[in-house]
Amino acid sequence: MHARKSLFIPGPTNIPDHIRRAIDLPMEDMRAPDFGSFTLPLFEDLKKIFKTETGQVFIFPGSGTGGWEAGITNTLSPGDKVLASRIGQFSHLWASLCERHGLEVEVCDCAWGEGVPVERYAEILAADTKHAIKAVLVTHNETATGVTSDVAAVRRVLDEAGHPALLFVDGVSSIASIDFRMDEWGVDVAVSGSQKGFMLPTGLAIVCVSQKALERRGQAGLRRCFFDFDDMMRSNKDGYFPYTPATTLLRGLRASVDTLLEEGLENVFARHFHLAQGVRRAVWAWGLELCAKEPKWYSDTVSAIVVPAHVDSAAVVKRAYYRYQLSLGVGLSQVAGKVFRIGHLGALDELQVLTALAGAEMALADCGTDLELGSGVAAAQGYFRTVGAADLKAAA
Ligand SMILES: Cc1ncc(COP(=O)(O)O)c(C=O)c1O
Repeated sequence: MHARKSLFIPGPTNIPDHIRRAIDLPMEDMRAPDFGSFTLPLFEDLKKIFKTETGQVFIFPGSGTGGWEAGITNTLSPGDKVLASRIGQFSHLWASLCERHGLEVEVCDCAWGEGVPVERYAEILAADTKHAIKAVLVTHNETATGVTSDVAAVRRVLDEAGHPALLFVDGVSSIASIDFRMDEWGVDVAVSGSQKGFMLPTGLAIVCVSQKALERRGQAGLRRCFFDFDDMMRSNKDGYFPYTPATTLLRGLRASVDTLLEEGLENVFARHFHLAQGVRRAVWAWGLELCAKEPKWYSDTVSAIVVPAHVDSAAVVKRAYYRYQLSLGVGLSQVAGKVFRIGHLGALDELQVLTALAGAEMALADCGTDLELGSGVAAAQGYFRTVGAADLKAAA
């Protein structure tokens, strides 16, 4: 007998049953006269998730990578300079996508486990008196290392330098799970995808764009077609799309947004923090460390855990998968073999987290890690028991 596999990668995440049922629909007419009465309120409610009044939400068939491409091609021209940092595999891929579009990318290389280097950004922006830099990139949550960066601080350094560059944020593994404030932080392009905090299948790039960034599209010389904001805006204003939308995913997105708003965004963030705290307690009880180098960078959606030097983290992930039907995240690129990841985002509660910890603990021990079985689970249990639902609400 094979029970359902336990999915604890940092996306795609588990889909709650009611959201899966909301997707399980016959195809519908995306040009029906009443289709707009479904999509227009959805666009409006998505703005609440991004915490924006003035931004515009775009929904493209695609994934987070498509969202990166949409943001860049609609606002920038070949040869434009962008400031980026490489703090893990996803920030690396984003910088590389910019280069492949013919942008000039100034990359700050940081040790993996560190956040976006705000002070270096401040120096570079202050020195850029001619405003050659057209966009500044921040990976809010680097999924490869379990590091959350300070977007508000990057906004501050842009303002202090009086720099007009656009602020681009990759919120693929943060938005709808970790606090994100489009308007308050002056974010110009925020990119997300359906398969993480939104608890949906992969298939949608969800992008929010400020009016300032939208104004750039007239001069933006990069080629675009599928991701063209103008085409989308012309159709979206009446609730339609320039090409066939993924209607079932849109229906699922409606259920997802309702679920998030019903729980309350602040409660969603508090729940993620609470579950992440439990995971961190377990990691320390195992005698291991997080890849994130400082507490201020600890991610509430994914923990990247460094294994002892004599242990291969890829073997741990393989063992968890084949022996315990537990999917954990592998270490990517620079940290391959050195870290494994527990995704703790989306539709998740304490008991589910304990399942992942129990499986990870066994796989770690099986692969030669010297730890006491049950120690991580007990540490998380101890933590969870001390913080009740009432405290959680109060903390939110
Ligand atoms: C932070 C981050 N950015 C971008 C991406 C790429 O998104 P996708 O795989 O949906 O294209 C991911 C994927 O995991 C991610 O974690």
